[in-house]
Amino acid sequence: MIGRLNHVAIAVPDLEQAAATYRGALGAKVSDPVDEPDHGVTVIFVELPNTKIELLHPLGDKSPIQAFLDKNPSGGMHHVCYEVDDIMAARDRMKAEGARVLGDGEPKIGAHGKPVLFLHPKDFCGTLVELEQA
Ligand code: CO
Repeated sequence: MIGRLNHVAIAVPDLEQAAATYRGALGAKVSDPVDEPDHGVTVIFVELPNTKIELLHPLGDKSPIQAFLDKNPSGGMHHVCYEVDDIMAARDRMKAEGARVLGDGEPKIGAHGKPVLFLHPKDFCGTLVELEQA
């Protein structure tokens, strides 16, 4: 069912420093910071030839990644995003497989303007999984 790896998201305590690391040491193409108030994050997109890395930093007091950074103060991998052709079919399949879909189970519009869902990390090898309709 799953298709391409769309992105890997890494939560970081210092966005400028993270951007400098990817731009400088790794020589990657790195975007300017983009505020996404609906998602409670500021994001820097790192473009790789075959996928993207998203560097996430909390925005506002109710950021969904603040608790993660509290537990992982130097940052860490927050989630992986896989593409699917049909988000509703994917959602129904996940539920039938006994996996927990986070939130109210309805797709939301994600960082790229496409419908996304998140799946409970305990059901997927300890990793938060985002599904995005390609
Ligand atoms: Co994501």
